[in-house]
Amino acid sequence: MQEFNPANVPAHVAIIMDGNGRWANARGLPRTMGHRKGVEAVRGAVRTAAEIGIRYLTLFAFSSENWNRPENEVSDLMGLLKAFIRRDLADLHRENVRIRVIGDRSNLSGDILPLLIEAEETTIANTGITVVIAFNYGARDELARAMRRLAGDVAAGRLRPEEITAERISSTIDTAGIPDPDLIIRTSGEERLSNFLLWQGAYAELLFIPDLWPDFTRETFFAAIEQYACRERRFGGLTQPTLAVGS
Ligand code: FPP
Repeated sequence: MQEFNPANVPAHVAIIMDGNGRWANARGLPRTMGHRKGVEAVRGAVRTAAEIGIRYLTLFAFSSENWNRPENEVSDLMGLLKAFIRRDLADLHRENVRIRVIGDRSNLSGDILPLLIEAEETTIANTGITVVIAFNYGARDELARAMRRLAGDVAAGRLRPEEITAERISSTIDTAGIPDPDLIIRTSGEERLSNFLLWQGAYAELLFIPDLWPDFTRETFFAAIEQYACRERRFGGLTQPTLAVGS
């Protein structure tokens, strides 16, 4: 097995899993087959992330804009997520995986919300990798919900406007308690963030790779982490501390 220097392993990797539809089209298959293969790639990615030593893996499973897709595709995606939780929860729990869900939970119909809550509650005490499922998630919606909550606290006299700091915002949005992503990967060659982790990704390294999501393998993941390890992160500072004159 390839070993990474732990100092070069990102604590938090977030993935925009793109290209399921194109994967299926290229094979003359219905789009839903691409999403099915996409779930297999999810299983592999969780295991590989744990193997590498990544502490948090966030997966963009369903965006708040995905409701605009044809009804049958939306219901396929819902069905796949539900089947994934029903079928894989016991295995993930046994593997010490913790599950968190981010996104808007209001107005979720049917049995999806109880399943998401069950996944979180069952795994709450697990100490291995945390898999964050972004479901019905959109960054602007997440920020708007948080701003409304803070504004409510100000209006009720529980919070002063000057107490609204970057830290307070971080601890009010859905990812409260989760470190910001170090690396955001998007598959399929598209080079945009599509309303994903806009606040949290302020200093993330971005990696756009040509592979379609169903083709994302252990090797692809390892290669992505190798590329990340070569990046130099400065967080707005300087590469090298400037040497004092005479030192
Ligand atoms: C993008 O492909 C992918 C999605 C909109 C959904 C991703 C969902 C899964 C991989 C399955 C369920 C997730 C979990 C966590 C079990 P696309 O349809 O936009 O592809 P295209 O751009 O090629 O059309």
